[in-house]
Amino acid sequence: MKKLTTKKKVALTALTLMAPGIIIISSSYTDVSHPVEAKQIITSNTTNPVKKKLPNIKILATGGTIAGTGSTSAQTTGYKAGVLTPDQLIEAVPGLKDVANISTEQVANIDSGTSNTDALMVKLAKEVHKALDDPECDGVVITHGTDTMEETAYFLNLTVHSDKPIVLVGAMRPSTSLSADGPLNLYNAVILAGSKEAHDKGVMISMNGKIGSARDTFKTNTTDVDAFGNPELGSLGYIQGGKPYFYNVPTKKHTTESDFDIRKITEDNLHRVDIVYSHADDDRVMVDAAVAAGAKGIIHAGTGNGSINEKTLPGLQDAVKKGVVVVRDTRVPEGMVTHEQTDEDNHFVNSGNINPQKARILLMLVLTKTEDPNKIQEYFNEY
Ligand code: SIN
Repeated sequence: MKKLTTKKKVALTALTLMAPGIIIISSSYTDVSHPVEAKQIITSNTTNPVKKKLPNIKILATGGTIAGTGSTSAQTTGYKAGVLTPDQLIEAVPGLKDVANISTEQVANIDSGTSNTDALMVKLAKEVHKALDDPECDGVVITHGTDTMEETAYFLNLTVHSDKPIVLVGAMRPSTSLSADGPLNLYNAVILAGSKEAHDKGVMISMNGKIGSARDTFKTNTTDVDAFGNPELGSLGYIQGGKPYFYNVPTKKHTTESDFDIRKITEDNLHRVDIVYSHADDDRVMVDAAVAAGAKGIIHAGTGNGSINEKTLPGLQDAVKKGVVVVRDTRVPEGMVTHEQTDEDNHFVNSGNINPQKARILLMLVLTKTEDPNKIQEYFNEY
């Protein structure tokens, strides 16, 4: 049973007085200062319960496997992503229109693994902002390919100023496949975006019944339907039986308290930031190539606790001398990169516990504010 606040009880009484066709069959509250249980409300001429006001949810579609189609129902790889329209997506979800008033917009229809761009993230963030600026809009769902969903999610988490729910959702199996996961994922995402509990949680990723924070959630599996999470830190919660359950909250700065604001960012503000992936016997060749390509930042995905090969280190030191910001990150999925003397000596920034692809997003945005490694380190500590 749902709890009624005093405000809602007053509204309920008004409704009873104003609408003669509505009868409150049973009402158990006596003390107006305390929330109480609401009994079922039934109209006089029908046995259907009066519908509660549905949330207004905007779905912004960008493509991905959730909108993908294959040639047979057994095809779960090698299909075409980004085919269906958002209206086709919602038609495939029974009951979706009973849980929210939905409007849709196609922002892109791409395979996010092959065609996502920083420019598209900027465009999408502006669309999300515009949608949520509308007082009638209660939340936004973004259908997105899973390959780069974690990057787009983190970009939105850092740039959209709203405490209304923003939920990214995708699928691991195309719409045409047996046991396609898209419809339930989309249903859950809409429920989440329309829920009061999801307010002020930053941008969320809703996949396979789990709610993940944009900052900490990453893709953990290439093909399984349970492909997102953070094995070490866990999820924010779950969605079960059409209801979200939160157990954790994000602790790092996001959305309304972020220093980055999509209203002031264009794709031209964003500098090139490259990721250089370390391995045994690597050297400075890739670092030099990034600098030659005009990178203003390099994320070094080092071994272990952000270790840098002795043949690569001079390349990174030279990059810093040329004004390039170097972030010491790791290719290891769990744990953090700790602050070390080498960071002080070389004016490197350490990434904390965000992975290289998220560090690239953060550094791109931080570079719109400062090039000072000490200040950049503060941003990496706070976000
Ligand atoms: C994509 O990222 O667009 C393709 C893969 C997927 O959505 O799972």
